[in-house]
Amino acid sequence: MVMKQMKVPQLAVVFGMGLFMVACGGGEGEGPIVPPPPAPAEYADKHMPAGWWADAAKMEEGRKIFIGETNPDVNCASCHGKDGKPVKAGARDFRVGERMKLYSDSVWIWRISEGVPNTKMKAWKSKLSEEDIWKVMLFERNFGLAGKGWDADKKSWVDAASVSAASAAAPAAPAPAGK
Ligand code: HEC
Repeated sequence: MVMKQMKVPQLAVVFGMGLFMVACGGGEGEGPIVPPPPAPAEYADKHMPAGWWADAAKMEEGRKIFIGETNPDVNCASCHGKDGKPVKAGARDFRVGERMKLYSDSVWIWRISEGVPNTKMKAWKSKLSEEDIWKVMLFERNFGLAGKGWDADKKSWVDAASVSAASAAAPAAPAPAGK
C-alpha cells in the first residue's frame, strides 16, 4: 500500500520530465537558444533596403531563390526545407522564432554571405548578390517571424510596416517608371 502511494508522485515526476524534454525539443536538437555572435564590422551596418520588409514581390523573388528555382546551384530548401522544416541534420530551423528573433538583419546577411565555419552552411556571396540575399531573407523570416522586420533603431523585430525608414540601409529609390 505504501509502495503504491509512492508510485504516483514518482510517476508524475518521470512523466513531467518527459513533457519538459518534449517541450524543450522545440528547437529540434538545435541546443539551447542563445544569441548569435555579433556581425563583424563589415556587416554591422548593413540593413534591409527601405520599404522591402513589406514588399511581397521581393519576397516572392526570395522564395524562388530559396527553393532553387532561380538558380539550381542555390537551393537553400535542400537543407533548410521548403516549408522551413530542416531536411538535413544540423540545418538551422527558421521556424523557431524565439531563436531567430535574436538575429538582426545584419547577422543574417553576414551568415548567408560568409557561411558558418565548420558546418555545411557555406558562403553564398559568390552566387548571390547582396540584393538577392535580402530577398531570400524576406522569405526565410516567414517561417518564424512572419510579417516582421528588423528595426535597427529599436534593435528588435517589429511589424514590417512600422520599421522606421531611418533604420533602413538607404533612402528608398524611386521605382523606375514602367516597373
Ligand atoms: C548543404 C546544406 C545547406 C544549404 C544548401 C544551406 N544551408 Fe543554411 N545552414 C546549414 C546548416 C547546417 C546551418 C547551421 C550552421 C550552424 O551550426 O550554425 C545553416 C545555418 C543557416 C543560417 C543561420 C546561421 C546561424 O548563425 O545560425 C542561415 C541564415 C542560413 N543557413 C541561410 C541559408 C540560405 C539563405 C541558404 C541558401 C542561399 C542556405 N542557408 C543554404 C545548411 C545549409
